[in-house]
Amino acid sequence: MTRGVFITGTDTEIGKTIIAGGLAASLKQAGTHVGVMKPISSGDTTDAQFLKHAAQVDDALTVINPLCLRYPLAPSVSARLEGREIDMSTVATAFAHLKQKYNFLVVEGVGGIAVPLHGDFLVAHLISQLQLPLLIVARAGLGTLNHTLLTVAFARQFNLQIAGIILNRMQPETAGLAEQTNPAEIERLTQVPVLGVVPFEERLNTPNPDVTFLAALLNRHVAWRKAEKLFL
Ligand SMILES: Nc1ncnc2c1ncn2[C@@H]1O[C@H](COP(=O)(O)OP(=O)(O)OP(=O)(O)O)[C@@H](O)[C@H]1O
Ligand SMILES: [Mg+2]
Repeated sequence: MTRGVFITGTDTEIGKTIIAGGLAASLKQAGTHVGVMKPISSGDTTDAQFLKHAAQVDDALTVINPLCLRYPLAPSVSARLEGREIDMSTVATAFAHLKQKYNFLVVEGVGGIAVPLHGDFLVAHLISQLQLPLLIVARAGLGTLNHTLLTVAFARQFNLQIAGIILNRMQPETAGLAEQTNPAEIERLTQVPVLGVVPFEERLNTPNPDVTFLAALLNRHVAWRKAEKLFL
C-alpha cells in the first residue's frame, strides 16, 4: 500500500515547500521510492518544480501539479477571475497515477486547511478525499498556539488524521520565551506530537535552497519517528 503525507500549514508562506522538499529528499536518500505532488498552485509552478528537484523524479509538471491557477490568490477566487471552472478530476487522475507508481507520496497543500478551492470545497475536503495523514507546519513564535489549535480543531471536524506538527522559524531573531514554551503547550493541548523546531537558516531563505543541506538540517531538527502514524 502506498503511504504518504499531506503537508498543510497554519498560513501561506510558512515553510510547507521547505518541509515537503526536505522530507522528500530525506526519504529519497534513505532509499524510499518517493513521489511528490502539489495538486493545486496559484500564480506559478515554482513549488512543484522545487519538489520535483528535491525528490529527483521524472514526472511531468502537469502530473505533479495538475492545476495551476493564474493569480496568486485562493484557487476559487483566481478561477473566478479567470472565468475558469476548476476540474478536480484532473487532480484525482494524477494522484491515482502517482500513488500507483511510488511507495510514498509527499503532497503539498495550498495555503492553509480552510482555503477554498472551488465553491464550498476546501483544502480540508481535498485531504479527506486523498485519505492522507496530515503534517501541519506552523510558525515557531508568538501567535502559533492560536493558529495551530484552530488548524487542529478544523482538521478534526473533518476527521482527518494528524500525524504531527512542525514548528518553523521564519525570522532570524534568537528564540524568545514563546518559542521555547510553544512545543510543550501545543502537545499538551492537542495531543499531537510536535516533531521538531526548524531553525531560521539564511541558506534556506532563497527560492531554490540546496536540497542536501535542507534534508540534513531537517533530519537534525525533526524527529520524524515521532510521527508514528506516518512511518511505522
Ligand atoms: N527555516 C527557514 N529559514 C529561512 N528561510 C525559510 C525557512 N523556512 C522557509 N523559509 C523561506 O521562506 C519562504 C516561504 O517558505 P515556503 O515557500 O516553504 O512556504 P510555503 O508555506 O510553501 O508558501 P506557499 O503558501 O506560498 O506555498 C521561502 O523563501 C523559504 O525559502
Ligand atoms: Mg509552498
